[in-house]
Amino acid sequence: MRNLYDMSPKEVLQLNKSALNKALSRLQSSDSITSLRRSISELREQLYNSSRFRRSRVSDKNVIEFTSDYLNEEMDQIATSQTLERALYYVERLIKSINEVRLNGVNDINLNRWKEYNDIYFDSLWNIDKRENSGVHSAEYWGNFIPQIPYQMMKRYTKKGDWVLDTFAGSGTTLIEGQRLGRNTIGIELQEEVAEKTRRVLTLEPNADKVVSEVITGDSAVVDYPSLLNRYDRQSVQLVLMHPPYFDIIKFSDDRRDLSNAASVEEFLRMMGRVIENAVPILQKGRYLIVVIGDKYAKGEWIPLGFLTMNEVIKRGFKLKSIVVKNFEETAGKRRQKELWKYRALVGGFYIFKHEYIFVFRKS
Ligand SMILES: C[S@@+](CC[C@H](N)C(=O)[O-])C[C@H]1O[C@@H](n2cnc3c(N)ncnc32)[C@H](O)[C@@H]1O
Repeated sequence: MRNLYDMSPKEVLQLNKSALNKALSRLQSSDSITSLRRSISELREQLYNSSRFRRSRVSDKNVIEFTSDYLNEEMDQIATSQTLERALYYVERLIKSINEVRLNGVNDINLNRWKEYNDIYFDSLWNIDKRENSGVHSAEYWGNFIPQIPYQMMKRYTKKGDWVLDTFAGSGTTLIEGQRLGRNTIGIELQEEVAEKTRRVLTLEPNADKVVSEVITGDSAVVDYPSLLNRYDRQSVQLVLMHPPYFDIIKFSDDRRDLSNAASVEEFLRMMGRVIENAVPILQKGRYLIVVIGDKYAKGEWIPLGFLTMNEVIKRGFKLKSIVVKNFEETAGKRRQKELWKYRALVGGFYIFKHEYIFVFRKS
């Protein structure tokens, strides 16, 4: 007889919720671990074969979805428990995950079903070898970040319908992802031509949730956020994302307000401080500020731009929640220069940059 194990791991099972609830509560009256294991094994067959559990017989409200690997994992955990007490604890947990939604108030992740969020990163080392490049995303804008960064941040730190501010919008990676995820986004970009191109691109991206994705041309150190938000009848945003120039590594324009034109590291930090201070008042308390930045190398010295910028945020009362280290993707240009850089590194006594930082702060 075929059973749950025969399904492919990511196959989604749509089950009759009351029938599943009944079957699981029956497990709760097992009097020994052996009989519980037997019942679990029967249940796996029934879930796969019996029409009692099929969704076709019930209304949408009484349907619960699971991937087969998740359900198998939960059932394995019950069946391999050493004691009846432990096994019953896992049964109870499974029942809860079917009937209760537990949220943390900051995102839409149901904590009772956290294991099913396979798309979310949990650790602080991100080795991403491929840029997400679907739809209107493009790597064409030199210095843009990979869409996975705003995707992860919005999934973890916002809910659908929340408002996100990106103080250095560039080619609009955050706004495109926001539109896909049903988050309203406002992006500030200093260069009008860049801002205009981003506006055009955004019209080509589907907007199923009809969210706002607005690009404002301006200097994020002085933009009048309260009046900007007022237009939408709002006083605050729920997430601020900052992906500034990494000082002068890439010169974005000739505008003296452009952070890539700062005269020194100290001036860059002062300018960054002003951008932070301007955005802080409109960030809702308890919500998150993200800074994506890398270090730089100058005159034989490693300049820890990332940590220096991190301090600028901490100085302004934010709590540091995480430092994520992310690899740089290898562009074709960099691949060609790789051998030369290895040689330079050996001669100069340094290591070649392969990472940047994603600093996660919380406004207390
Ligand atoms: C590292 S890029 C951001 C790229 C963006 N994350 C993306 O995916 O396209 C930095 C951007 O900040 C802009 N910029 C520099 N100084 C600025 C300022 N004072 N106010 C607003 N934008 C600024 C630059 O023109 C550039 O487009």
